[in-house]
Amino acid sequence: MASSSSSHLCVFAFIFLSLAGGCVGRPFYPLPSKIVNKNRQPLQQFRPYNIAHRGSNGELPEETAAAYMRAIDEGADFIETDILSSKDGVLICFHDVTLDDTTDVAAHKKFANRKRTYEVQGENVTGWFTVDFTLEELKSLRVKQRYDFRDSKYSGKYSIITFEEFISIALDASRVVGIYPEIKNPVFINQRVKWPHGKKFEDKFVETLQKYGYKGSYLSKDWLNQPVFIQSFAPTSLIYISNQTDLPKIFLIDDVTIPTQDTNQSYEEITSDSYLDYIKEYVVGIGPWKDTIVPVVNNYMATPTDLVSRAHARNLQVHPYTYRNENKFLHYDFHEDPYAEYDYWLNQVKVDGLFTDFTGSLHQFQEWTSPALPKGDSASSLLHKIAAMIASNKNL
Ligand SMILES: *[C@@H]1O[C@H](CO)[C@@H](O)[C@H](O)[C@H]1NC(C)=O
Ligand SMILES: *[C@@H]1O[C@H](CO)[C@@H](O)[C@H](O)[C@H]1NC(C)=O
Ligand SMILES: *[C@@H]1O[C@H](CO)[C@@H](O)[C@H](O)[C@H]1NC(C)=O
Repeated sequence: MASSSSSHLCVFAFIFLSLAGGCVGRPFYPLPSKIVNKNRQPLQQFRPYNIAHRGSNGELPEETAAAYMRAIDEGADFIETDILSSKDGVLICFHDVTLDDTTDVAAHKKFANRKRTYEVQGENVTGWFTVDFTLEELKSLRVKQRYDFRDSKYSGKYSIITFEEFISIALDASRVVGIYPEIKNPVFINQRVKWPHGKKFEDKFVETLQKYGYKGSYLSKDWLNQPVFIQSFAPTSLIYISNQTDLPKIFLIDDVTIPTQDTNQSYEEITSDSYLDYIKEYVVGIGPWKDTIVPVVNNYMATPTDLVSRAHARNLQVHPYTYRNENKFLHYDFHEDPYAEYDYWLNQVKVDGLFTDFTGSLHQFQEWTSPALPKGDSASSLLHKIAAMIASNKNL
């Protein structure tokens, strides 16, 4: 939380102003960042990606500016977010379709009559839905910590942020920080929210990225300048936007019992060889729930599936979710040690990125076990130096 950098001060100024109720719908400072810094430290490319799931949400209320800035301070390669929509079509960073679990909406009497029941992914859900609130109304709410076993000290301090505000946090970072936004619940959002000129949720999503200069295929110069992975559980959305952008896409894979929300396909179908052959034309990787890669029985890890090797054989990256430090999320194999879990997934399963609630912990682990080479030293120049040292010792 404590930070002296000016970008942080700006965002905190914004948080303060929005707490004061002043600047709804108005960017808190020019977007995107006008700070030209050609010498920003690039995205690291030598080890798996540290993906800050909903920001550093193990510590701070999820999807808030504070959680994202904390994750950047802690070493995230990518900050991850879920994109939903307000009633007036503004894209926001928020995970659940309802506001109930992570905001103080229930305490706002004027919204008491705003509760609804809608069918979401085949289930009737009752609550206060983001799609029934304008951005101005959403900004009047305060975000709270989701879990009662995590620090609630920061609950009530921060507001919901827009997709554009999220992007500005990444672009303002003092090093290159990627973004990892999800096209969340697209079937539901397109049912409930209409945009002018027949635009769909997916169109607004891609337009927002393009407005802030996100373009280019994976590892292209443009991409490395502003890295982004677009993620979705809905294959139809990923395929639809493939005509609009060549930005890299990740196909998320849910638990084995949950069919896809758009195509109603089973886990077995979407992880089959033939489906991976099909989807690899559109995506650079998959993002599976980790317990589907290595099934869990009685809280012990069972025999791993071959999903990672079949994905890697097709040049698809694997970014599993979600890694959490708390004992209740750690399988017994890891003897209550989150570093043992990271070690297993990074060094045995060999995944290409991890979604973590505790970016700081993953970063520490990677710094200890796979640190960056000293500046200016490529791996080969380092080998040359070592060889030269050995040779000079022999001559002594
Ligand atoms: C949801 O509720 C409506 C209205 O009561 C009902 O017609 C519909 O079958 C329900 N859907 C599910 C999936 O339970
Ligand atoms: C992409 O564009 C091509 C050519 O215009 C079209 O045939 C195809 O249906 C489009 N695909 C999607 C998924 O919209
Ligand atoms: C989805 O597929 C399942 C299994 O094939 C089927 O029982 C169900 O009716 C389907 N749901 C929809 C909404 O099509």
